[in-house]
Amino acid sequence: MPGMLDAKIILVTGGSTGIGRASALILAREGAHVVIADVQDEEGERTVGLVREAGGRAEYHHVDVTDEARVTALVGDIAARHGRLDGAFNNAGIEGPSAKISDYGIEHWHRVIAVNLTGVFVCMKAEIEQMKKQHDGGSIVSTASAAGLIGIPGAAAYNAAKHGVVGLTKTAALEYAGRNIRVNAVCPGFIDTPMLGRVTDASVKIRDSLIAAVPMKRVAQASEIGDTVTWLLSARSTYVTGVALPVDGGWVAQ
Ligand SMILES: NC(=O)c1ccc[n+]([C@@H]2O[C@H](COP(=O)([O-])OP(=O)(O)OC[C@H]3O[C@@H](n4cnc5c(N)ncnc54)[C@H](O)[C@@H]3O)[C@@H](O)[C@H]2O)c1
Repeated sequence: MPGMLDAKIILVTGGSTGIGRASALILAREGAHVVIADVQDEEGERTVGLVREAGGRAEYHHVDVTDEARVTALVGDIAARHGRLDGAFNNAGIEGPSAKISDYGIEHWHRVIAVNLTGVFVCMKAEIEQMKKQHDGGSIVSTASAAGLIGIPGAAAYNAAKHGVVGLTKTAALEYAGRNIRVNAVCPGFIDTPMLGRVTDASVKIRDSLIAAVPMKRVAQASEIGDTVTWLLSARSTYVTGVALPVDGGWVAQ
């Protein structure tokens, strides 16, 4: 049976673990050649190994998304070797500290904004530059968060960065709608990944209270985000652009 993404070349940032790894596996299963960019090399190579074990195609590159020159060089290299870039999942992110604004260190603010917002801008810019050269454009999905749609006490920089990703997504969608480049964001709620582990490690109570707040009364598997991303990157969503789609068990609908 043909896959949803047969022969497509797709970049996934933050593909070494969590949502990025689960998405890479699904994208490859649907026929894409997946290019993973991350800073955790061992885990990145492990994702490549998992994709290959399942019969898919993937490659790993050490690229920090805050390094514009490296990101631009990677996209140039993908175009040179594969001839094109059909899709991109800008997913790399960090959680930053949990602190109220008056205790939130400016150095943490700068780092979280650099990775979670400027990193997405830098990637988008390079990806759009390449997709503009392709008559059939491309599809870009970035990972925002439910925290990009509502306020969350204790996460000022994360919240601001993720709201920024939503705004950036809408602007990019409008700027390039006429060039066949679709730009969307996914807004995950609570997803079972290393990041959620770090945030809730402090106590089972925190995890339980998060779950209690979700109408579906569970956290999601990373693959549930991967399925949504795969759809947005595929030709099954050709009229969808500029959306920030919650994938959150109903959390922000409340
Ligand atoms: N887990 C959740 O509940 C949840 C909820 C909403 C949004 N998100 C978002 O989903 C995305 C993926 O997070 P996850 O939960 O899979 O966590 P994760 O920590 O497993 O994955 C994040 C990945 O990004 C990579 N990364 C971090 N900084 C980087 C940089 N400067 N350059 C390149 N790669 C970098 C990490 O090495 C890691 O592989 C993030 O953007 C996160 O904010 C997660």
